[in-house]
Amino acid sequence: MAVAAVLICTLSFQVTAVDPVEIKSRINFNNFTDQFSAEWYAYDKQDGSGAKLRVTLRIKNLSTKDWIIGNNDGVWLGIGLGNTVMRGTDVVMCTYRFSGYAVSDIFACTDRYASAWNEPVIDGTQNVDDISSQRLFNEVMKLGELAAIFDRSLTTTDTEADFKFSAGSSIDAVWAWGFITSGNVQYHGNQATNRDSFNMRISSMRSSAKQLIGNLYAIIGASLLLISATFI
Ligand SMILES: *[C@@H]1O[C@H](CO)[C@@H](O)[C@H](O)[C@H]1NC(C)=O
Ligand SMILES: *[C@@H]1O[C@H](CO)[C@@H](O)[C@H](O)[C@H]1NC(C)=O
Repeated sequence: MAVAAVLICTLSFQVTAVDPVEIKSRINFNNFTDQFSAEWYAYDKQDGSGAKLRVTLRIKNLSTKDWIIGNNDGVWLGIGLGNTVMRGTDVVMCTYRFSGYAVSDIFACTDRYASAWNEPVIDGTQNVDDISSQRLFNEVMKLGELAAIFDRSLTTTDTEADFKFSAGSSIDAVWAWGFITSGNVQYHGNQATNRDSFNMRISSMRSSAKQLIGNLYAIIGASLLLISATFI
């Protein structure tokens, strides 16, 4: 029996070690305008990589009629964390440079800081990871729907330029978007249509019941197998 108990402990440990339980918040979203929206959730794989915010910035019904192939034209989408105005704000900016309707161009998202009412400067330490890009073009109508998906750690070691926050809270935030023309990021322009502040609610993280029950079944199953093996 002692051998069985040791084996049970070893197996239970292995199940937990191989399959750490991911915790996750619900998805919240905000439709800033008819065109620009964001969806986000917090998650932690609990494997030591830390809690992260997964953000999708989405622009719809975007006119691409002025984009010239090879001219470095495109669009930028931005979000700022921890402030109701741009200046003095931790910013993530995603740029999309167009090289054709059939080309799989991707967004490049960068960790920045807006110290002035200017294009935010890229931080020395990057704490933003590109996850993926989505694009859907109507070449005849010259319209596009594009999305940039990125991760940002909830807390980083960059105390100068990064805002720290936690799941289960609401933070002040700002959004903006604009065009890129001949490689240059253009001013976002008007409030309401191209920039504003919003309240960003980040829900608490929970483990999904499915994963917990799955692990529990694996442990019970392994234990039962061992117990019956001991008695045979
Ligand atoms: C708001 O955004 C969501 C997600 O992008 C979308 O499914 C929904 O249709 C939008 N609602 C309105 C009123 O635009
Ligand atoms: C797309 O934008 C144009 C103006 O650029 C507007 O007239 C049209 O109603 C918009 N379409 C949708 C589906 O929002």
